[in-house]
Amino acid sequence: MSVIKNVTLVGGSGHLGTFVLDKLVASNKFNVQVLKRAGSSSTFAAGTEVVEADYEDVESLKTAFQGQDAVVSLVGDAGVLSQKLMVDAAVAAGVKRFLPSNFGSNMTNANSRQLPVFTRKVMVEDYLIAKSKTTELTYSFVYVGGLTDFAIRNKVIMDFSKYTPAIFNGGETQFSTTSMPTVGDAVVGVLSHPDETRNRPVYVSEIIFSQNQLLSLAKQIAPSKPWAPVDVDLDVVVMGAKERLAQGIHDLPTVIPILLKSIVDPEYGVKFTKNDNELLGIKVRTEEYLVELITPLIN
Ligand SMILES: NC(=O)c1ccc[n+]([C@@H]2O[C@H](COP(=O)([O-])OP(=O)(O)OC[C@H]3O[C@@H](n4cnc5c(N)ncnc54)[C@H](OP(=O)(O)O)[C@@H]3O)[C@@H](O)[C@H]2O)c1
Repeated sequence: MSVIKNVTLVGGSGHLGTFVLDKLVASNKFNVQVLKRAGSSSTFAAGTEVVEADYEDVESLKTAFQGQDAVVSLVGDAGVLSQKLMVDAAVAAGVKRFLPSNFGSNMTNANSRQLPVFTRKVMVEDYLIAKSKTTELTYSFVYVGGLTDFAIRNKVIMDFSKYTPAIFNGGETQFSTTSMPTVGDAVVGVLSHPDETRNRPVYVSEIIFSQNQLLSLAKQIAPSKPWAPVDVDLDVVVMGAKERLAQGIHDLPTVIPILLKSIVDPEYGVKFTKNDNELLGIKVRTEEYLVELITPLIN
């Protein structure tokens, strides 16, 4: 495949998209344009090339994708299915590579694929796989595990606030995570290696750790605090969350335990021992990074 030069970033205003946009621009390797929904109030730094499109109109999307080599999607949850029309538009515009909005759990794992929170993401992956067989469009699915910085600061992996963190299923499972700026580096790496990342999942693993390791670091930082971790059966929590989801409840307390399952449960392919770090130029982090993240949350 020839070099990828013109890149459209969808959802570049989002939690993760802003980091990816910064890294794409800072790499100086690409002509970057950001696509936003018609009517969106998102704003971008001066000098950013911004185009608008109607996400329900394939012609509008096709116009936006004209002349683009790659589309990188960081749309939020509500926009996941709009990516199917984006794929159609990418095919029509002659785009070569599409990175759908994954950037999380290992969705090649059969257990992960069956989680209700991923139903629409799986549909988009399957759609892209089918299109890659009949058109010139290719894909890369980028799996990064949990977002280290986001998940720790938002108490997803562990809540230190009352010194009674929930420890899931013994806490020994080791899992991969990646920080948000490094997801940006990974996207730059994928687009810089189009042949090696063609039509396949790409694994990024910036750090591997366990809940018990994190708790041990917390205790070293604040040994005098009244630590009283609570053993929690994640399956029980997830069962309740799935029941609420089936009743149409989609709030964060419902969705997060299900997502967590695909980040910390060993049956969900959560430790990316075989990964693409070297290809993409990703440097692994050490425990020092975890200490940096958790210290302000404890003291
Ligand atoms: N691994 C993890 O732990 C983890 C954590 C968080 C997120 N993620 C993943 O990262 C990706 C991006 O998530 P995010 O939290 O950054 O997203 P987000 O901030 O919720 O949304 C990203 C952008 O999507 C656009 N958008 C919002 N609603 C939309 C709609 N109804 N239709 C179409 N577009 C819409 C908006 O851009 P405009 O207004 O500019 O159009 C928004 O800024 C997702 O795939 C998510 O699952 C992974």
